[in-house]
Amino acid sequence: MIGGTGDVRHLYVHLPFCSHRCGYCDFVTVVGRGGQHGAYVDALLCELDRAGGVLADPVETVFVGGGTPSFTEPEALRRLLAAVPPAAEVTVEANPETVTPALAALLRESGVTRVSLGAQTFTQRLLEVLERVASPDDVRRAVHTLRAASFDNVSLDLIYGIPGQAPSDLEHDLAEALALAPEHLSLYELEAKPGTRFTHAWGEELERQAEALEGYFERVVSTLTASGYRWYETANFCLTGGRAGGRDLRAHHNLGYWHGRDYLGVGIGAVSTLGGLRRRNRASLGRYIAALAADGDPPRELEQLDALTKAQERVMLGLRLDEPLAVGGVEVVLDRAALARMVHGGLVVAETDASGQETLVLTPRGRFLGGGVTAELLA
Ligand SMILES: C[S@@+](CC[C@H](N)C(=O)[O-])C[C@H]1O[C@@H](n2cnc3c(N)ncnc32)[C@H](O)[C@@H]1O
Ligand code: SF4
Repeated sequence: MIGGTGDVRHLYVHLPFCSHRCGYCDFVTVVGRGGQHGAYVDALLCELDRAGGVLADPVETVFVGGGTPSFTEPEALRRLLAAVPPAAEVTVEANPETVTPALAALLRESGVTRVSLGAQTFTQRLLEVLERVASPDDVRRAVHTLRAASFDNVSLDLIYGIPGQAPSDLEHDLAEALALAPEHLSLYELEAKPGTRFTHAWGEELERQAEALEGYFERVVSTLTASGYRWYETANFCLTGGRAGGRDLRAHHNLGYWHGRDYLGVGIGAVSTLGGLRRRNRASLGRYIAALAADGDPPRELEQLDALTKAQERVMLGLRLDEPLAVGGVEVVLDRAALARMVHGGLVVAETDASGQETLVLTPRGRFLGGGVTAELLA
């Protein structure tokens, strides 16, 4: 087990392997390579050993993301999970077709507390547009398998704005997702990632439907909030009140990012923010394994973050949440005239909290406009 004496409370671990590449995805992924999963985990453990000193003991959250972490060879995955520090929230991303009783048991025995499942849609023809492997039945089966293994914190990812998706398809997706009663839901608008074969094939169709997407977003929010979910971040919802059983079911790892906390990321393509330094590991699997096998740091880019950049990021991320952002510390990047206009226009609420601090929060209308409002607020 790798512990530290530092104060970084969030650890991200990247497992890049996938059984195939979905056309719309531009995450750092590697298809197949069963023979290299073990060597990659060896390298990850070396990187954790080299960098883990910055971590607090205990850390608060660990997030094992991908790629498809649940596609990793079981023994390699078990070895990795045994070595990461224990935390109150340990999330693993999983693709539905990989969730077997054996995988669920492995995750459970390894201290995983939360599973994030990539459902994307419950409509077969739209799954085919996305080039997904799982069927709607696979998604339902995966949730039941996780429940049978006593997982009580399951999140589903859904995508909307898929070419050919009608409003009734979106309603069907939301109803199917709600029927599974996940503790958490992430609803992403499909992004046309430049250079993907998906954008090449569907770019024009995506542009045509762009205007309809605001209506889709509003439909998502109204349906989920009416079903007892808290819209706590632009794209994220969690059960609340009695249905949450007294638990705070927000994704605490991601909350760390949105609150502007430091985090350590290990693996290819992983990013770390450590004080005023951002590190980005390069995406090459071969070079990553070779560098760590030779007792070196992984190939990476370093970026110094000045105070203004940090404050801008703090505003952009903090205003995604449904809780007030303290103005102290970010004042220097705020355009006061734009803020007054936004307050007047009913997009932002500016208040003074109990300790006398000025705070900002977007109204629901401001949240629907999202990034546009934030961009205007930044001087
Ligand atoms: C890093 S992916 C990995 C999860 C897992 N491999 C899967 O495919 O379900 C995490 C999530 O990002 C979202 N995502 C990936 N590409 C996207 C895109 N182009 N637009 C919107 N969301 C996307 C999907 O909802 C996906 O579940
Ligand atoms: S969407 Fe998920 S499964 Fe598909 S290529 Fe990306 S990471 Fe892999």
